[in-house]
Amino acid sequence: MNNLLNTLFALLVACATTLAQAQTAPAAPAAASPQSLQAKIAMCVGCHGIIGYKASFPEVYRVPKLAGQSAGYIVAALNAYKTGERKHPTMRGIAEGLSDQDMKDIAAYYEKLGAGTRPTLGDKPNREPDAQVAGLIQKAACFSCHGSNLSKPIAPNYPKIAGQYPDYVFVALKSYKASDNQSIGRNNGVMGAIAKQFSVPELKALADYVGSLDGELQTIPESRFHQQ
Ligand code: HEC
Ligand code: HEC
Repeated sequence: MNNLLNTLFALLVACATTLAQAQTAPAAPAAASPQSLQAKIAMCVGCHGIIGYKASFPEVYRVPKLAGQSAGYIVAALNAYKTGERKHPTMRGIAEGLSDQDMKDIAAYYEKLGAGTRPTLGDKPNREPDAQVAGLIQKAACFSCHGSNLSKPIAPNYPKIAGQYPDYVFVALKSYKASDNQSIGRNNGVMGAIAKQFSVPELKALADYVGSLDGELQTIPESRFHQQ
């Protein structure tokens, strides 16, 4: 019921705004208006706006947290689905329908979403890895790209990974190993070379550690989305 009311209210506001614009504004330039941004985000919240929402391909895992992720990385990831570098079928279908401007607008929105509610992170991860994981991290120098706390990537198109859902991190790491498959995997050169150095149980240990850390990534539920 609350949702219905929210939706009706949003529609009312949208109509009122459109009317007001029709009366006063000259043709607006291309920047996303709040309504069109809402329409774009509405395509995402059914999965990325539900805490713990699970995907079932190629196995069952929680869909990644997007709120707080770097905008440059979100755009890079969406382009990777659009071009087929990333083969996940649902996300490919979604990314194919997005223009460059859509991607920028959506990415800017998710980078800011939840900004006031993030923990303040130290320079180092909030917990030490065990000896096995410490060795794996050292072998592939994860900190050198993803940052000293795994939430400060060295380039705008590199992801924050600290605190991402561990089951998703595991699937993502395995995807980079599967670069020669038609229907699953990711063809990324950088992470491919890294993931291929490790066995699947080693990737699992890395994923569990990365996912156990405090980080800036969150899933912000749809009900809060409507109130913003
Ligand atoms: C039907 C569920 C579903 C919908 C709807 C959906 N996604 Fe996704 N999204 C997923 C799944 C599952 C993955 C993980 C795919 C993989 O393994 O590569 C994903 C991955 C992503 C990633 C990569 C995240 C990362 O950390 O690399 C981005 C970015 C993304 N989605 C953005 C969006 C945006 C933007 C929308 C709306 C325009 C959207 N998604 C709609 C299910 C969905
Ligand atoms: C040389 C730089 C570099 C190093 C070293 C590196 N990464 Fe990455 N990592 C990247 C880049 C770039 C991406 C984005 C690839 C893409 O667009 O798919 C990435 C993506 C990822 C992802 C996917 C995130 C997501 O949201 O889907 C995970 C997980 C990850 N790295 C974990 C690790 C771990 C664990 C290590 C150490 C074992 C590591 N990385 C070392 C550069 C690096």
